[in-house]
Amino acid sequence: QKDGFRFFMEKEIYEQSNVVSDCMLGRLQDEEILFEELDSSILNGIKEINICACGTSYHAGLTASYLFERHSKIRCNVVIASEFRYKEPLLNKNSLFIVISQSGETADTLEALKMAKNAGLKTLVICNVDNSSMTRLADNTILTRAGIEKGVASTKAFSTQTVVLWMLSLYFAKQNDKISQEVLQKELHALREVPKSLIVSDKMHEKTRRLSKRYLHGHGFFFIGRDVFFPLALEGALKLKEISYLHAEGYPAGEMKHGPIALADPELFTIALMPENLLYDKIKSNVEELSARDSTICTISPLEFELSDDFIKTQEASHYMLEFFEMLVVLQLLSMEISIRLGNDVDMPRNLAKSVTVE
Ligand code: F6R
Repeated sequence: QKDGFRFFMEKEIYEQSNVVSDCMLGRLQDEEILFEELDSSILNGIKEINICACGTSYHAGLTASYLFERHSKIRCNVVIASEFRYKEPLLNKNSLFIVISQSGETADTLEALKMAKNAGLKTLVICNVDNSSMTRLADNTILTRAGIEKGVASTKAFSTQTVVLWMLSLYFAKQNDKISQEVLQKELHALREVPKSLIVSDKMHEKTRRLSKRYLHGHGFFFIGRDVFFPLALEGALKLKEISYLHAEGYPAGEMKHGPIALADPELFTIALMPENLLYDKIKSNVEELSARDSTICTISPLEFELSDDFIKTQEASHYMLEFFEMLVVLQLLSMEISIRLGNDVDMPRNLAKSVTVE
């Protein structure tokens, strides 16, 4: 069943390129994005979007908030479901309530969805499991078509969620007449390239395997990035924590100097996400500051950077989201290789369950 892979997680990392193609099938058209499953009046009267999710799905939601505001020009708030439930949230009828869940069963997310429904909001679930509690409840469902995900650490569920949300930001942009044909075509072109950017090359896998030898000795890890690469940094840190039990934090790169940089020393490993196509110079100066304080720096980037101690080279790409997906694969492989070296059960990490159906 593992098709020759050592773990389901490894198999699922390698599957991403194909499942993302499935996920885009029929939705990514020549000249537009189509979601036939959505009620065509879904945006009528909608002034803002609220997103609720947990864990990795929350990271997909955070990524989406950048894309919804950038493309659709709709204000977007993202809240962790367990926080949302008890904060006495103000729910406006003019907001679209989106929940994101691989399983469709996560207790906190499901309760948040119920609250939104009871308050009369329009609801949409982005989910991998048809006929789950959330798809039965929400007004609208978009299935991510990732196939069964066995590894407890989520991989292909996240990549398909992110692709759906990116497509949705463009679909909404078009519906609201907020995007030029030229920009839309560029985005569609980039979307077509996503499956390629998710292909695992032998070279990349080998590089993460070699790095894992030293990185398992890190006292702590900072994953840093800006814009959508900040949620990606959170996701990289979560993967490492979950399966290798090493302490890791994801941070917006520009926030380091407001406190966390005090921790910098050679035993602290910084994994810096440095895309060529988005705020390169800004993140570069954040990394320079960390390097000046002797943190050990690993940069993931298409561009070599003289201050990095280690460098994982990604492909040059025409769009930052393509860099995002390739870096995602690198982060997944790196945490998996460290976990394997530590002798952990990659697919069944301690203390974790695949589906969290209790509060
Ligand atoms: C992390 C992971 C969890 C889930 C979270 C939400 O790898 O798998 O953080 O993302 O428990 O689960 P779903 O998406 O099923 O609601």
